[in-house]
Amino acid sequence: MAARQNRLNELTPKAWIKFQKSWFIHNPPARENGVKPHPAKFPETLAGEFIEFFTKRDELVFDPMAGTGSALVAAIRTGRRALGVELSAEFADLARDRVAAELAATGRPECRGRVIQADARALESLGLPQIDYCLTSPPYWDMLRRKGFETQQRRRQDGLPLTYSDSPADLGNIADYERFLDEVCDIYERLYTYLRPGAYLTVVVKNVKKGNRLYPLAWDIGRRLADTYTLKDERIWLQDNVQLAPFGMFNAWVSNTHHHYCLNFRKEAVAARSSRIGRTGTAESAGRPREGEESGGSQVGR
Ligand SMILES: C[S@@+](CC[C@H](N)C(=O)[O-])C[C@H]1O[C@@H](n2cnc3c(N)ncnc32)[C@H](O)[C@@H]1O
Repeated sequence: MAARQNRLNELTPKAWIKFQKSWFIHNPPARENGVKPHPAKFPETLAGEFIEFFTKRDELVFDPMAGTGSALVAAIRTGRRALGVELSAEFADLARDRVAAELAATGRPECRGRVIQADARALESLGLPQIDYCLTSPPYWDMLRRKGFETQQRRRQDGLPLTYSDSPADLGNIADYERFLDEVCDIYERLYTYLRPGAYLTVVVKNVKKGNRLYPLAWDIGRRLADTYTLKDERIWLQDNVQLAPFGMFNAWVSNTHHHYCLNFRKEAVAARSSRIGRTGTAESAGRPREGEESGGSQVGR
């Protein structure tokens, strides 16, 4: 029997199945000194896993809030092309330097990587090309400005910046939760136009605790973007090397939250009928399942 064509990536069946587990443990390696000024980056090793699942070599990976350029570095390391946008001039320069070093290390002159210093809310002014995959992580609302946020105490002691910037354009400086959610989701919704049909978008995010309540940022982003994309599922990123703190001891339930949601969305090759973008008239209408995709009933192992 002829082998089935792999339309999505270049993984072996074993690697494909391994990635499909809905959770994974990833303890970030110690940060190199150069990226320490950035308060919240994800590991390149984690980004590499997602990129290798959702793209093939030479495809274009995009991150509209690139930070230190971790997604871009991982893209180049895995033989993909990389494009990023970052608001902060300092972090954009840092990401550029890292991308340049990574490109030099590949020894493949045809490899491409670029960082644009800009406000991602001005997406349409950036002349973006068609994108094959977007891997990104927004500020976790204004969590970095929260007094007593545990990692902040350590950074203060080490003389490192506590926030991304003081710019009013920095989404991490928006105090109102609903406005923050609107602005972040608006960027991801407008990205839809630039993604090629069939492309995926992965958003790495966490729910946020403030005062005595939980703001379900991950769940809210999932719900909102499901009006535009197909929300496929989450892959839960667990860290199990973080020291636990006695929050609320003998008084109240306050978890040590050491998991993030990697939310996976897809721009269907044929757009879904309920698409928000579709309703404004820029995408195709009615959808049907593509070959090889689930069409309702899933194979549950029982
Ligand atoms: C969670 S960090 C991303 C970290 C990145 N994934 C990495 O591994 O380095 C969020 C980034 O969004 C950037 N940012 C905030 N507002 C922005 C905006 N309006 N446009 C573009 N970037 C923005 C911040 O400067 C910050 O670097």
